[in-house]
Amino acid sequence: MKLVDNKATLSFSNGSPSVDLPVYGGNIGPDVIDIRKLYAQTGMFTYDPGFLSTASCQSAITYIDGDKGELLYRGYPIEQLATHCDYLDTCFLLLNGELPNEQERTDFHKLVTNHTMVNEQMQFFLRGFRRDAHPMAVLTGLVGALSAFYHDSTDINNPEHRRIAAIRLIAKMPTLVAMSYKYGIGQPYMYPQNNLSYAGNFLRMMFGTPCEEYQVNPVLERALDRIFILHADHEQNASTSTVRLCGSSGTNPFAAIAAGVACLWGPAHGGANEACLNMLEDIQRNGGIAKVGEFMNQVKDKNSGVKLMGFGHRVYKNYDPRAKLMQETCNEVLQELGLENDPLFKLAKELEKIALEDEYFVSRKLYPNVDFYSGIVQRAIGIPVNLFTGIFALARTVGWIAQLNEMIGDPEYKIGRPRQLFTGSPRRDVPAAKK
Ligand code: SDX
Repeated sequence: MKLVDNKATLSFSNGSPSVDLPVYGGNIGPDVIDIRKLYAQTGMFTYDPGFLSTASCQSAITYIDGDKGELLYRGYPIEQLATHCDYLDTCFLLLNGELPNEQERTDFHKLVTNHTMVNEQMQFFLRGFRRDAHPMAVLTGLVGALSAFYHDSTDINNPEHRRIAAIRLIAKMPTLVAMSYKYGIGQPYMYPQNNLSYAGNFLRMMFGTPCEEYQVNPVLERALDRIFILHADHEQNASTSTVRLCGSSGTNPFAAIAAGVACLWGPAHGGANEACLNMLEDIQRNGGIAKVGEFMNQVKDKNSGVKLMGFGHRVYKNYDPRAKLMQETCNEVLQELGLENDPLFKLAKELEKIALEDEYFVSRKLYPNVDFYSGIVQRAIGIPVNLFTGIFALARTVGWIAQLNEMIGDPEYKIGRPRQLFTGSPRRDVPAAKK
């Protein structure tokens, strides 16, 4: 970051001395006012719950222009990556800053492929869960448990450990997600197959059985790989900020990623795809498109607590570019499976049409986000609703790691420790014990 020819002067009406604050600029996007010395100079904190106006770090990984609806991974537009690259190319890009050349691509694919198995002991963790445990509860446990197996890559300050842990996590997440699914349906786990692609291997671990050869459907394989690309990283969202804050204590990468999995689970964040599909199924069950108007009235009634899941975004005040690509992928998969008339897809498109013409949504700049169509395409592929967020976590693991490694590699980083505006009781004494 570089000092720009501008400064912010904070003045106080109560006569306190004003404070000059430096302004820094990046390469694109908003400048920042450096307030690191504010408390020392004024004895006051800034106040920004939800971090609406706060940059927590400098980063060179992902850039979002919410007004334009633009998303760049290391400068490359998501539309181009989703069209010309695969997920492992995107992982290499996010981790290293550049797309791989042919040799790097071959080596990276081989490295990930050769780390897809998990320690045989991992399966015994699952046995402690009820069969109907939510996969995200299982995954949060399994990812954290990885730190118990890889003592040779838990020192977050060792670049070689960070590199190995990154490969292990990217490689093993599909295996762990598939295991949590198989455990839930009482089927045997499927071991990874090194001759399959990353997405193809995941499809086989999910839907294959030891009883017969599993044929990977190339359209579904490509669709799933694109879904992984679309979810790979997204700047300083809630789960990435969680991973950064967790990792800032120096804990091991597996524990920090487990914290990200736990945060992503929430319906306001990665859990929105599951909540969105359930919302669509509820509307469908209660009358479908004919009932959309009634549902939208509920959404617009503040007291209902009902939100149009899969809509709205803290940063995008225009169409989420991932939602457009997800809708295209939806079309491709439904065509391939002969489900063009999927009622939920038709319902979702009708909901989108109504919302984009409705003053409530237009005035609040609410557009479909990545979660609006992702559930429909995952459901068509055969992924159960309660596993949608697990797929999101699988895909976002590389983003979390890239952001964590960027933070640890930043000589300026410190343990994250926000302050507060205290509104509780001033000092008081415990009443003397009654005689
Ligand atoms: C993800 O941060 C990321 O980058 C996240 C993510 C990623 O890749 O990591 O993009 C993934 O989490 C996508 C978002 C998934 N969540 C949902 O789809 C859940 C539904 N959306 C909302 O909960 C909401 O839009 C958020 C949480 C996504 C954003 O919330 P903000 O930025 O805090 O906005 P807000 O709640 O202040 O909303 C502004 C207004 C409010 O109305 P008013 O008080 O101004 O009258 O818009 C309303 C909100 O009530 N609003 C909605 C709405 N989202 C916002 N009203 C109805 N339905 C919605 N979905």
